[in-house]
Amino acid sequence: MKKVTVDQLEEGMKLARDVFTENGKLLLPEGFIIKPSFIQKLKEHNIDSVYVEDEKAESYIKEEVIYHETFVAIQDLMLSAKTGEIVDPFVAKEIINDIVAQIIEEEDVFLRIVGFRDVDNYTYFHSVDVSIFAAIIGKLLELDRKQIEDLALAALLHDFGKMKIPHEILNKPAKLSDEEFEEMKKHTIYGYQIVKNMDGISEQIAEVALLHHERLDGSGYPLKLKGDKIPLFARIVAVADVYDALTADRVYKKKIVPTKAADYLTKYAGIHFDKDIVQKFLKMVVKYPVGCFVVLNTGEIAIVYEENPFNKTRPIVKVVARKEGPPVLIPYFVDLSQDNKREIIDVINY
Ligand SMILES: [Fe+2]
Repeated sequence: MKKVTVDQLEEGMKLARDVFTENGKLLLPEGFIIKPSFIQKLKEHNIDSVYVEDEKAESYIKEEVIYHETFVAIQDLMLSAKTGEIVDPFVAKEIINDIVAQIIEEEDVFLRIVGFRDVDNYTYFHSVDVSIFAAIIGKLLELDRKQIEDLALAALLHDFGKMKIPHEILNKPAKLSDEEFEEMKKHTIYGYQIVKNMDGISEQIAEVALLHHERLDGSGYPLKLKGDKIPLFARIVAVADVYDALTADRVYKKKIVPTKAADYLTKYAGIHFDKDIVQKFLKMVVKYPVGCFVVLNTGEIAIVYEENPFNKTRPIVKVVARKEGPPVLIPYFVDLSQDNKREIIDVINY
């Protein structure tokens, strides 16, 4: 570790200690990679010097680094909000723009790192994943770059109000009682109140915190809005939110495979969720790569042989073994798009 003046700071250097503002607020966390906008921010706060690691980071655009930084940024923001502090979303905004830049280049660049999380930090990981999924949807819907950046930030902040929900309710390892669920629902209102007061946050971003649990048929909460009355950003985040919640491990339930989550979203497309968003999103996200091993509901174990271009959740598979019963002596093919009795229920090396 070495101490350098802000003028000596270079892009790609890694912070070795947290940097605080003159009044003791965390400005940039340890581990963050310096970008030109961070140097600018340090100067604005009249900070003369910081500690950095001896070695420069190999590459600061690697998706794992960006993912980790986004996790830290949202965690810091949410924890400070918990103590009632007014928080500055500057760092989160900068990092989310890095994610968007990567996704604009190649939409599935982050897909292999979403969904892995420890249950204790669920809300933070969930926020990062939802923002990645939302940015992907934004790109698929051909929104312009500024809109995708705003959408991704809105998605990152969508569950901010959960900071105001008692820990026992938020992390209850069982189904919530009616009373507890009513309390949980308030995270939308709390979130909106906090997010709209943040620096440089538009109403379009803040209202996602309020409206991401609204459903097309009016069965959502808190305002029971219907159809197009629900703004586009909130409709996008609703899909990203539900998909991520279903496919990740939670305190009270195990994750389900992407195809099951896809079935759920498809079933409620046009009822709860925007149909166009669901279709575009699933086409992009849920796929079983050729060569991966899957388990079918029949107990058959198969290798994904070929993708079905029109139905990526139902590839052509080659059955090679059975969990129980007689061994498969001669492997055989099954086209899952033509066989509605068979389902993929697990992925062995997804
Ligand atoms: Fe939520």
